[in-house]
Amino acid sequence: MMSKHEKTYVAKADFMLHGGDYNPDQWLDRPDILSDDIKLMQLAHTNTFSVGIFAWSTLEPEEGVYNFEWLDNIIDNIYKIGGRIILATPSGARPAWMSEKYPEVLRVNGSRVKQLHGGRHNHCFTSGVYREKTQQMNRLLAERYGNHPALVMWHISNEYGGECHCDQCQEAFRTWLKDKYNNDLKALNDSWWGPFWSHTFSDWSQIESPSPIGENAVHGLNLDWRRFVTDQTIDFYKNEIVPIREITPEIPITTNFMADTFDLIPFQSLDYSKFSKHLDVISWDAYPAWHNDWESTANLAMKVAFIDDLYRSLKQQPFLLMESTPSLVNWHEVNKAKRPGMHLLSSMQMIAHGSDSVMYFQWRKSRGSSEKFHGAVVDHDNSSENRVFQEVAKVGQVLEKLPKVVGTNRPSDVAILYDWESNWALNDAQGYGLETKQYPQTLQEHYRPFWEKDIPVDVITKEQDFSPYKLLVVPMLYLMSEETIARLKAFVANGGRLVTTYISGVVNEYDLTYLGGWHKDLQEIFGLNPLETDTLYPKDENYVTFNNQKYLVKDYATIIDVNGAITEGTYLQDFYKSKPAVTSHSHEKGKTYYIGARLDEQFHRDFYSDLISELELKAIFPVKHSPGVSIQVRQGEDADYVFIMNFTEEQQVVVLDSEVTDMVTGEILSGEMTLDQYEVRIVEKSRGN
Ligand code: GLA
Ligand code: ZN
Repeated sequence: MMSKHEKTYVAKADFMLHGGDYNPDQWLDRPDILSDDIKLMQLAHTNTFSVGIFAWSTLEPEEGVYNFEWLDNIIDNIYKIGGRIILATPSGARPAWMSEKYPEVLRVNGSRVKQLHGGRHNHCFTSGVYREKTQQMNRLLAERYGNHPALVMWHISNEYGGECHCDQCQEAFRTWLKDKYNNDLKALNDSWWGPFWSHTFSDWSQIESPSPIGENAVHGLNLDWRRFVTDQTIDFYKNEIVPIREITPEIPITTNFMADTFDLIPFQSLDYSKFSKHLDVISWDAYPAWHNDWESTANLAMKVAFIDDLYRSLKQQPFLLMESTPSLVNWHEVNKAKRPGMHLLSSMQMIAHGSDSVMYFQWRKSRGSSEKFHGAVVDHDNSSENRVFQEVAKVGQVLEKLPKVVGTNRPSDVAILYDWESNWALNDAQGYGLETKQYPQTLQEHYRPFWEKDIPVDVITKEQDFSPYKLLVVPMLYLMSEETIARLKAFVANGGRLVTTYISGVVNEYDLTYLGGWHKDLQEIFGLNPLETDTLYPKDENYVTFNNQKYLVKDYATIIDVNGAITEGTYLQDFYKSKPAVTSHSHEKGKTYYIGARLDEQFHRDFYSDLISELELKAIFPVKHSPGVSIQVRQGEDADYVFIMNFTEEQQVVVLDSEVTDMVTGEILSGEMTLDQYEVRIVEKSRGN
């Protein structure tokens, strides 16, 4: 049995990785710049570089003509200064000769328009030629660099995403469907509710991917297509790693995951719960719009924390921050610089939630093309003196003090369940409020009260083990298979506390609604049957009373037929005035809670506060503080590593109730600690045995 504080080194390194995407291939005719890079890397306290990400046209300028010498030199030079390499496969962008000679590598969009060569991240995932070419290239890279002592990890492609609708992809989709439905077309028609608008297929060949100029109203088809896109992307990835696994079995593999929008919700288009099973390490690219004009810094920090906790929980081990910006990006609507201190704070937040790296896009700003104004460690001035470079160096110096934190995790008693498939199906559902479904945002609202109280949370997916948790929060899980329902039931029967909300358990895994009321097992464990979901206009308001307090209802209100459950909260208005809105119910050894309406922030605070006391859920480092301060902990075998972070624009005071050691300065601290705006302090507290 692994102890819950056992370390997992995700990269082949026992230190915090600090560095980023490095594109020397853009500077090969500037040896002076390349040699400056090596000096600047040391001044920046960086140690690890992701190379080769978009280097295909330099590595193979003509078909079969290879040029690796420049990369040999780069890797050797970095290694000479003690640096390490994350080696990328270049499939994220391909050379023009390839698109010209083999047009099948080009993507076809949903309207069936074949794309021209250009951009990046736009290949067909099915193309036999592209699969062969990527494998060939990856084999050469693995053979040449697999034994290099600098190599700590593989970075497969870059930010996989998108979809292709070419003929080969259509054929692959049909094969995937035949496999899924055991060659039984009737089973497919039944699952897709075929007779609706006469959508019954009489031959497999009639089936096409969803299209704005064709089929887009068959929800079962849409859902299966999204699943196929995930599977096909994974299949492409698996093809990429064949030679890499064969030649370098001991080098861990990652690909960089994303978040959606600068508003920060998990990436929507690929089911990362599936993808994560094929990776050794989860890594992601985080670009929050700090200092934006629509939310507080603390609110944005909470959203970043949510994604960190999701991506860490995918493998229940540390993850890597693969890309971030030292200051600004070039693709937000407004590209604002990180204010002094924010870079250290935002970087340490990632470490606090389980990252073993702070990596950047990009090491050096390019001179031309679309990313020439994207933030980088080295600006066009080539200087180590400017503010951004200095802030990066500061992060490096702090990371150098944190080797003990590397590999540690953050066990937790609370889990929130996130599901990609359910989100797809819910967004597809023509019903409810078209703009107000907001599934990921709703989960963030349920996460917030725990974050505010510094209680560690895992954000898990439906296949994961529920049994380690005392409390499982499952908001708005629209799609629930019988299997998920059975697993939730078993969790409660064994003593778990389960929370769910409005718009949960509506459809099964085929996106077909349950008939005859809510699933009987859900009715049994929650002691109720949701009868109607009322959707409200933005200006509509209702209220719920709960524990003698009044809370605002927006968007959704479920009318419930209680059958055994205890009414904890009731509606104040409308035709369901006085009817139950929030309930609880004991079932076997456990207990369930149903929140029928979309309630305000304060409700979530008060509701979860009761559960937190009852279940004795505790912050690992319990210290009273004002809102906007976050204290997150990673746990070593005999010490806690505590990140005390001020996500506000004011000075904050926290009072330490025991002696701790500042991991950066070495000072022993106790009593009052004052944190300036955006300040972060990292302290070690030995765990008294
Ligand atoms: C993504 C890509 C990088 C770069 C950055 C810019 O994360 O992986 O290559 O384009 O965005 O923010
Ligand atoms: Zn294709």
